[in-house]
Amino acid sequence: MKAIILTEPGGVDKLKVAEIPAPVPGDHEVLIQNKAISINPVDTFVRSRQQYVDYVLGEGAKEKPIILGWDVSGVVVDTGKAVTRFKKGDEVFGMVKFKGHGKAYAEYTTAPEDHLALKPANTTHEEAAAATLTALTAWQALVTYARIQKGDKVLIHAAAGGVGHYAVQIAKHFGAFVIGTGSPKNKEFVLGLGADQFIDYTTERFEVVVTDADIVLDSLDEPGRSLAALKKGGRLISILTQFDDALLEQARAKDVYTYRMSVYSDGEQMKAIAGLLAGGELRSHVSETYTFDQIAAAHQSVESGRTRGKIILKP
Ligand SMILES: NC(=O)c1ccc[n+]([C@@H]2O[C@H](COP(=O)([O-])OP(=O)(O)OC[C@H]3O[C@@H](n4cnc5c(N)ncnc54)[C@H](OP(=O)(O)O)[C@@H]3O)[C@@H](O)[C@H]2O)c1
Repeated sequence: MKAIILTEPGGVDKLKVAEIPAPVPGDHEVLIQNKAISINPVDTFVRSRQQYVDYVLGEGAKEKPIILGWDVSGVVVDTGKAVTRFKKGDEVFGMVKFKGHGKAYAEYTTAPEDHLALKPANTTHEEAAAATLTALTAWQALVTYARIQKGDKVLIHAAAGGVGHYAVQIAKHFGAFVIGTGSPKNKEFVLGLGADQFIDYTTERFEVVVTDADIVLDSLDEPGRSLAALKKGGRLISILTQFDDALLEQARAKDVYTYRMSVYSDGEQMKAIAGLLAGGELRSHVSETYTFDQIAAAHQSVESGRTRGKIILKP
């Protein structure tokens, strides 16, 4: 099969298309013929530094070749002998083995059955591959950790990005008042996702505009400003910054719950996301699609930090 292998950590030139044997599923795994794969900022971190290879792949870093990627949508073509949830021919999607060695940048990927859900019929493989790592991150941040409630005021940074555009829609699904930040070019896009208010970060400081949020989903390196945007007793969920002692002390003084999360694979949550996609309450916005031969350009685009929605890779 064709796969994109990482020859060594470094620049985009370290990603090479290679012909390697297709993987064989373990007892609890299925073999997926990938129809679409999505790319995340973490792919570019792992590509560029050995410390991220070790941190994200863990024991899997010893396996060679290293194949980046965790987000897939495709067709089940083989099943391990203990698999009960899926059969050959099923169309599935999910974030596979995160953290771990996901090996999604390939024509075929093996996946534990409990990392997957059936792809809704109204959702393309591109849209489904998109709604995996970033949709799970938005779900876990808002539902698992922030325990979002109807009527909550929720501030979502980078609302036009991969995580942000799902977070806006998920927060609206739960009946929140949603405020999204972005640059002016994304104003109509973010409001079109259902956000009630847009903050243009190029002209306004979000912590001046908002001082009474119940929840901030923080994907920026600005925890102090995010804390200032929260009301007493609010919830600050960070997907980027580790909080330092001074920040934690300030949060305690304000009775704010803080959590620095790391997304994890979860088939039950994938089912919830599939349900929202099927019901039309969640839509993926795919802004760019690349082939394996264009992987360098795809990574450069993600590294710009300015992409809208999701970036897709097609085998
Ligand atoms: N801890 C975890 O489990 C976890 C999980 C997923 C992601 N992450 C991290 O979370 C971050 C976001 O991930 P992502 O996939 O959503 O990234 P992304 O799709 O690459 O985000 C791009 C978006 O960020 C916006 N943006 C850039 N600077 C901004 C600013 N100062 N204020 C508001 N918006 C800004 C851009 O909008 P404009 O063009 O309008 O500026 C763009 O639409 C990344 O650092 C990623 O590594 C962590």
